[in-house]
Amino acid sequence: MIPPKPAARPDRVSLWRYLRLFRADILSAQPAKLYRAWMAEFRTPFFRSYLCNDPDLVRRVLQERPMDFPKSDRIGEGLRPLLGRSVFLTNGAEWQRQRRIIDPAFEGGRLRDTFPAMLAAGQAAAARLSPGACEIEAETSHAAADVIFRTLFSIPIEHELAAEVFREFRDHQRTQPILNLAAFVPLPRWMPRLHRRRTRATARRIRRLIVQLTEARAAEIAAGTAPGDLATKIMTTADPQNGARFDTAEMVDQVAIFFLAGHETSASALAWALYLLATHPEAQARCAAEAADFMADPTFARLKTLSFTRDVFRETLRLYPPVPMMVRETVRTETFRGRTVAPGAQVVLSPWHLHRHTRLWDAPDDFDPERFAGENGRACLRRAYIPFSAGPRVCTGAGFAMVEGPLLLACVLAEWHVAPVEGRTPVPVAHLTVRSRDGIYLSISPR
Ligand code: HEM
Repeated sequence: MIPPKPAARPDRVSLWRYLRLFRADILSAQPAKLYRAWMAEFRTPFFRSYLCNDPDLVRRVLQERPMDFPKSDRIGEGLRPLLGRSVFLTNGAEWQRQRRIIDPAFEGGRLRDTFPAMLAAGQAAAARLSPGACEIEAETSHAAADVIFRTLFSIPIEHELAAEVFREFRDHQRTQPILNLAAFVPLPRWMPRLHRRRTRATARRIRRLIVQLTEARAAEIAAGTAPGDLATKIMTTADPQNGARFDTAEMVDQVAIFFLAGHETSASALAWALYLLATHPEAQARCAAEAADFMADPTFARLKTLSFTRDVFRETLRLYPPVPMMVRETVRTETFRGRTVAPGAQVVLSPWHLHRHTRLWDAPDDFDPERFAGENGRACLRRAYIPFSAGPRVCTGAGFAMVEGPLLLACVLAEWHVAPVEGRTPVPVAHLTVRSRDGIYLSISPR
């Protein structure tokens, strides 16, 4: 069974129709030819956008000269009320300084320390499920938020503040305009981008809650009673270049992005992984066998025994990359595949299209977790696989997510069998992350 893919629009439509499609969903608004093109130029009256599918071009932007392709302000604008000057939005020296302080918290050794908290969240997620039809995105959102609260602040999602932040985040997402829209939609830069009043209000409420968490933690650190979790690690790490630490205000911006980037993305990937396993019973049986063996003695050292489950998660991130597109900007004249690109152009990197590119991948739309063992899969993993981006601006949480994903799948599959619900084939759409338009329904039964 070929996993669902949004219908692409015809190659030619009017600008008006394009904008209407765009408002509905960024993925189905794109022409089918993007799955085979190396580059596409989008012209608007005020700027140009270039969608790059050529692996050499993607490498140039993300890995070889990342400082020449900063994050685009057009995109950041929509997120600023919530994220302030978080590492996700900054550029240049400010961004480099923030990464120097944050990165050590996510290094390999630290992942081992966060394992017990992740496992507890996974077991709690499995315990929350019950037999019958279930909208699984809601469950995986809950589980991924729980992972973040437990690893960052040592509190489970049932904690009053955690539950409130989670609730507010859900409301906030409902008010969010589609993120990457600004890279394609022909509005001039000087046009004020009005944040909806509700978006600003929920952002304010979330930040107020995060301030409470962060201030309480600062007090615990001062008193020497803070737990050794990610928040403590980040708040006590000094910049190796000048010894400065984050103050509380800066930490609030970072905590906001950890919640957002860390829970929406993993929730999306876990939900799609469970759907793919529901529709591929043989793969599910193999994962369930690995899960039964692993859960008999669940330790960090034994995570490597979940190797097929890890390939399933990796293949899910290929087919349904939670971050479907990333946007950068040119700051000087560039040449892309022989074409002159002016400063101020939007450079769109699309994991969605790159991961399903018909000239790069064998059987690009098939679910085949074993593909990475083959020659084509290995080559594409190096050149055409960027679910976490690449280069110095790669996702801080990539290692974290690659532990969390297989582990949570194992926790669920050790106890539960999942099957598709008839008439409920999910339709992928891109909002903040790649979600299903009407939820992902699975039929759940005890194993
Ligand atoms: C399956 C799960 C995840 C996926 C697919 C994912 C994907 C990504 C991608 C594609 C980016 C780059 C965005 C861009 O450059 O425009 C990114 C950035 C980021 N992610 Fe993740 N992420 C995941 C999980 C996490 C987790 C668990 C955390 C933290 C706990 C996290 C924290 C961040 C941060 C802080 C950035 C900004 C890095 C920077 O700009 O320097 N992510 N993520």
